[in-house]
Amino acid sequence: MISDKQLSFGIIGLGTMGRNMLLNMADHEFAVAGYDKNTKQVQALYQEDLTGLTKGFSNITAFTQSFSGIRTIMLLVPAGKIVDAVLSELLPLLNKGDIIIDGGNSHFTDTERRYKDLEQKGFHFIGMGVSGGEEGARKGPSMMPGGDKKAYETIAPILRKIAAHVNAEPTVAFMGLGSAGHFVKMVHNGIEYAMMQLISETYELLKKGLQLHDDEIHNVFKNWNEGRLQSYLLEITTDIFAFKSTGESTLLLNDIKDEAKAKGTGKWTSQTAMDLTVPIPIIDIAVAFRDLSKYKSLRIETSKLYPNLKEVKYPGIAQEYLSHLEEAFYFSMVSAYSQGMHLLYQANITYKYELNLELIAKIWRGGCIIRAVFLKDIYAAYKKNPKLEHLFLDNSIKESLTKSIPAIRTIVSDAVQNGIAVPAFSASLSYFDGLRNDNMPANLIQAQRDYFGAHTYERIATEGIFHTDWLTQTNK
Ligand code: 6PG
Repeated sequence: MISDKQLSFGIIGLGTMGRNMLLNMADHEFAVAGYDKNTKQVQALYQEDLTGLTKGFSNITAFTQSFSGIRTIMLLVPAGKIVDAVLSELLPLLNKGDIIIDGGNSHFTDTERRYKDLEQKGFHFIGMGVSGGEEGARKGPSMMPGGDKKAYETIAPILRKIAAHVNAEPTVAFMGLGSAGHFVKMVHNGIEYAMMQLISETYELLKKGLQLHDDEIHNVFKNWNEGRLQSYLLEITTDIFAFKSTGESTLLLNDIKDEAKAKGTGKWTSQTAMDLTVPIPIIDIAVAFRDLSKYKSLRIETSKLYPNLKEVKYPGIAQEYLSHLEEAFYFSMVSAYSQGMHLLYQANITYKYELNLELIAKIWRGGCIIRAVFLKDIYAAYKKNPKLEHLFLDNSIKESLTKSIPAIRTIVSDAVQNGIAVPAFSASLSYFDGLRNDNMPANLIQAQRDYFGAHTYERIATEGIFHTDWLTQTNK
């Protein structure tokens, strides 16, 4: 057994995520400590640790005394009030100069508040997004730390070792100042919601549109995952379409209720984007459709009142349709990531985070839930032009996106004709058509606002702010 003096890192919260992170560190020969007031979790840590390098505590004072020198303590507890409660229990037991990391999915505004508060009290605080779920924590997550840069440099050797690696490079890097790490993680989750919604709409099109069987759907996802759409989310979807419980002849998927839950990070992304006036409609609709799914009895009642009047019938040859669908999915995926990156671009201006979009795309290539082959194109675009305002402006993205336009139009209009809801596919298309519109009908909205509320408007040809008494000219 390693002596207490060598302990270098501690985690509070020994749920599966916390235990797996500690075991990952122990695999890399770091002596680490874990604390959880639930003794069962502490026992589980000992049972799972084959290295003998972890030490578990159910007493917080003993835990904090097990370090020598500067302590580095990471909280992996549910976001919200619990983080504040743990901090107020922990702080009196620490010394100034100790490093505290919040590795949960905290709201970035909480992180900003805690960062300022802890800095004032003499502690180093890092708000760090951790992605990859339980398996990622064990085998290599993607980590998005932000806040105290010096403190990050102190702990970077451990984080670099335990992170996932892409081309021998770790998927962890300092994101930026203050709450940058949790902001980036929130946007990661927004993109995660968007991609999950797109995949589920694809499932609906394959099942109800093309009327494919589960094994055929499995093959479509499997094929896609071998090409340019390759991603972790498609990979697990392929697995889900092959998973039968022991002794069962049908997929477990078919026994799962069609009511999606959410912990809230997607909603935070949409709320924040609206506060910053950045449009991210695919993420918005992904949140809204999870919410819609919850109204099961209302959906059943409505479905009886408004049944499909004609049989769902897909035009053309299935193989041709599938190739259009692959292109449409590609188009929408580009749009989803682009909307997320645009939000990061704008937030960086507002919050002065000093984000590096190239680096963000780089660390998302491995370990995290939204890892995908396409991230190499995003990375390449920002590498070419670190100041790129929007991914649609990059030349190679423009080329591949342009090729997919006819396909997305076909897929969306076929779905609309057949009464199949594809809000993420159609939001990606409308977003695109809106963004390439140099003459939007927003002049009418301005006129209406001025008509009913004297909200004023600006003119194309004349400088200034105008108001018109619209009733004088309308013969009313
Ligand atoms: C990750 C995930 C994770 C998230 C879950 C659940 O990056 O590992 O984003 O942080 O909490 O995916 O999210 P919802 O419950 O909101 O779907």
